[in-house]
Amino acid sequence: MFQIVDTISDLHKILALWQNQTIAFVPTMGNLHAGHMALVRHARTLAERVVVSIFVNPIQFGPGEDYASYPRTLDLDALKLAAEKVDLLFTPSSKEIYPSEKKLATTVNVSGLSDILCGATRPGHFSGVATVVTLLLNLIQPQVAIFGEKDFQQLLVIRRLVADLFLPVKIVGYPTVRESDGLAMSSRNGYLNTQERKQAPCLYRALRKMCDNLVTEMNDYIKLEDICWKELSEAGFKPEYCTVRRVLDLAVPNIEDRQLVVLAAARLGKTRLIDNVQVTL
Ligand code: PAF
Repeated sequence: MFQIVDTISDLHKILALWQNQTIAFVPTMGNLHAGHMALVRHARTLAERVVVSIFVNPIQFGPGEDYASYPRTLDLDALKLAAEKVDLLFTPSSKEIYPSEKKLATTVNVSGLSDILCGATRPGHFSGVATVVTLLLNLIQPQVAIFGEKDFQQLLVIRRLVADLFLPVKIVGYPTVRESDGLAMSSRNGYLNTQERKQAPCLYRALRKMCDNLVTEMNDYIKLEDICWKELSEAGFKPEYCTVRRVLDLAVPNIEDRQLVVLAAARLGKTRLIDNVQVTL
């Protein structure tokens, strides 16, 4: 039976009935697309119960970002989750999660990893993510939690906090789900106008090209990044970064590193898009 709760006390009443069952948890900010639904379907295969949260987390948005305009489509999302036989949808208000009006006294910050790439242009973003994910994992206490690889840096931040705090949960990354033209699915794709939507797959193409060049032993990373930057700029993007990193920790790779990931963030009009592709040399 599909149930929706929006308070912590109702959440705990239901979880108390499932004490001997395994739980897979999929945290989201809603506006669910096929990428989220793939996470949910995967969750179904990993545990007896599937819990999804929808919470547009105010503390991971910076000033001037899209917190107020972030698409909120709860009724439609609930229908989609019910159709996938999700057991429980948790949709807390901001007040429920952050009851204190004042600045949070307790936050979680994964230093280093949170300060580079997206963290450099979105200060405080990953601390907001790490704090809410820790809080949700603590409230729900799942055996496993599933996150999309599209937000690759976020996934590593979460793996790191779970490891450092010895949280008893397995973090599973799930491959990025793409539109037929390669664009990574994202709730923010809805911000693109018709022209921008046509240009948007260039981001994935540029990353793929960087991977192909790496495989053909072009290991001058700076040169590859320059090529990608130029390509994105010519396609109408304003790149924030495009870079080759180590999969393990997003450090700049040494020549002997074989497991790499190319990542980019770029603005197209008012929309900020991110994507990444992993490559083994
Ligand atoms: O990836 C997201 O949707 C959010 O960052 C998350 C993990 C649900 C935390 O708010």
